[in-house]
Amino acid sequence: MNRRAFLATTAATFASAPYILGQAKSGKKYRTALIGAGWWGMNILRVALESGRAEAVALADVDSDVLEISADEILGLTGSQPKTYKDFRELLSAEKPEIVIIATPDHWHALQTIAALEAGAHVFVEKPAGHTILEGRAMVNAARRTGRAVQVGLHRRIGPHHVSGMEFLKSGKVGQIGMVRMVVTGGADGPEQPSENVPPPAELDWDFYCGPAPLRPYCRNIHPGRFRNYLDFANGTLGDWGVHWLDQMLWWSEEKWPRKVHCSGGRSILGPAILNDKEQTTDAPDHQVATYEFTDFTAVWEHRRFGGTGTDLSPFGTTFYGTNGTFHMGWRDGWTFHPKKKGEAVIHEDPRFDNEKDGHNVPPLWRDFLDAIETGRAPVANLEVAHLSTNLALLGMLSHKLGRAVTWNGSEERIPDDAEANAMLRRDYRAPWLYPV
Ligand SMILES: NC(=O)c1ccc[n+]([C@@H]2O[C@H](COP(=O)([O-])OP(=O)(O)OC[C@H]3O[C@@H](n4cnc5c(N)ncnc54)[C@H](O)[C@@H]3O)[C@@H](O)[C@H]2O)c1
Repeated sequence: MNRRAFLATTAATFASAPYILGQAKSGKKYRTALIGAGWWGMNILRVALESGRAEAVALADVDSDVLEISADEILGLTGSQPKTYKDFRELLSAEKPEIVIIATPDHWHALQTIAALEAGAHVFVEKPAGHTILEGRAMVNAARRTGRAVQVGLHRRIGPHHVSGMEFLKSGKVGQIGMVRMVVTGGADGPEQPSENVPPPAELDWDFYCGPAPLRPYCRNIHPGRFRNYLDFANGTLGDWGVHWLDQMLWWSEEKWPRKVHCSGGRSILGPAILNDKEQTTDAPDHQVATYEFTDFTAVWEHRRFGGTGTDLSPFGTTFYGTNGTFHMGWRDGWTFHPKKKGEAVIHEDPRFDNEKDGHNVPPLWRDFLDAIETGRAPVANLEVAHLSTNLALLGMLSHKLGRAVTWNGSEERIPDDAEANAMLRRDYRAPWLYPV
């Protein structure tokens, strides 16, 4: 199946879903635009349409096939054709949307969020917040400056089993928690074969895709979706899955940042990263262990893209080790408490998802976003929250690249007396794009 046929098949699966797209009985319908109309962006836009509180006025994407297929799907769902743009800046100035959904690769989140806020829109942006720490800071500042609501796609902040699991943890039933371990496994079981560098397909504006990132050669392995393991565009498993689980740990602890971070790892199984004029591989680590020192507990991130689940309770999740037992917050396996005392019953709650296929709870996150817009309160996964969770992943990557531990002054967002490390809180942008301040 060629690439366009693949995209079209995926879209058709969703287009046939029985959504109720009428205007809600009460409540304003927001002029909504989507920037990055791929897999996850369309997931969010479908939820927005299903709520009856959004009119899809426009889509922007640098891949004209993605644009056409996604616009066709919206037409099928709503009877109304959204306008399509390659350049998000033109969309913002021509359409003046009230809400902008952003689901582009991570290296675009900061510039597009800030541009949308400055154009007067409320923003629903995907996690992670920034691709570097100072981008996240600039996003937070823009949200404060403009007074607009920003929801970040951390749907695990509002998913039913996460909410009830947090209640259980905070009730004290697990006892005093001294250690938290966050794990993601799976994805690669052998050396990575390089992909040949080829001219980008006619429908893709590769220069615009790379944007502020280096203009690396194009290969078929990056787009759609697999940008996650190219550090120019994202931060591998730690920057992707890590943000969700690090956020659960911060949510439980009510801490804002650790005092010290150390991360090591590498590409033992995938092999050395390759980038030359003929071919390339991904360059994200295939395994990483990051240790976050907090005052009262230690948190450990561990991902392994090989070896299966091993002795872990499940391939994804956050485990809290307390004096009364072990509590596992999972994804498709819900949450489970294993009491320390022999004979005491294991307590378990199954997960509940609004979307079983992709295992997410975006609808309540969307409702929370609308309520925040209308009441002026902060959304549950606002930028201040998501920036702190994202920072943990980014500090892990920073320590990994540096090859040593870093201390963290979270209130100043600086690494004390460490010019080499502080230089890595930002990155150089490719002209004409300017690093946000
Ligand atoms: N919250 C979650 O659980 C969750 C799940 C999946 C993905 N995500 C996030 O969603 C984002 C998108 O991921 P995806 O899997 O949908 O990727 P994708 O590759 O399917 O979609 C990204 C789209 O952005 C487009 N794009 C790239 N540069 C652009 C630009 N300058 N302007 C407009 N469009 C541009 C691409 O052409 C592509 O169509 C990522 O940040 C990812 O972390 C979050």
